Amino acid sequence: MSFDRRKFIIGSIAGLASKGILADSCKFLLTPQQPEGPFYPTTSPLDTDADLTMVKGQQAKGQVVVVKGIIQDQFCRAVENAVVEVWQACHTGRYNHPSDTSRAKIDPHFQYYALMKTNSKGEYSYKTIIPGAYKASRYWTRPPHIHYKVSLRGYEELITQLYFKGNEFNQRDGILNGLSNEEKNKVIVEFKKDESGFLTGKFIVNIKKL
Ligand SMILES: [Fe+2]
Repeated sequence: MSFDRRKFIIGSIAGLASKGILADSCKFLLTPQQPEGPFYPTTSPLDTDADLTMVKGQQAKGQVVVVKGIIQDQFCRAVENAVVEVWQACHTGRYNHPSDTSRAKIDPHFQYYALMKTNSKGEYSYKTIIPGAYKASRYWTRPPHIHYKVSLRGYEELITQLYFKGNEFNQRDGILNGLSNEEKNKVIVEFKKDESGFLTGKFIVNIKKL
């Protein structure tokens, strides 16, 4: 095939994909729903920016990570202006929430919640720390996870959780193991050092356009 012809075909496919005509070739599963859990904020937090590692100029404890996220629909088209809420425990495994009665210490310099909006490419990002594992019952330790709520008019609201690849508690988690292997791959994220020097993970979320 000539170079020009190949370029034409690739260009045509890219064009169709951007219009959503190749929806059937979209291999992405919808991101599975996961329980909201009891620790969604009861009141609007004052500090909701995309850097959870710093409160009043002081650094939170724990391993800093960066999440680079993309919100897409079921046809793999970018979703602009999606509202992305995340909430999580601090490095000790404690939530800043009245229902969390564990004895683990609150980190006063950690921002437990963030609220973001996606750009025209469906992207958002935030800096946080790997949350601590915590006991959900005597025999059950929840692996580190970040809770998510993604919403936008015209789309089905998604409540899910992001997990950290390779964590020792993933394999025995009753909630994570309620998912198929394919679904697990949607919510377990690998973090690697990137050029910025931060452990960075890419989380692609697919929500359903109604
Ligand atoms: Fe949780």
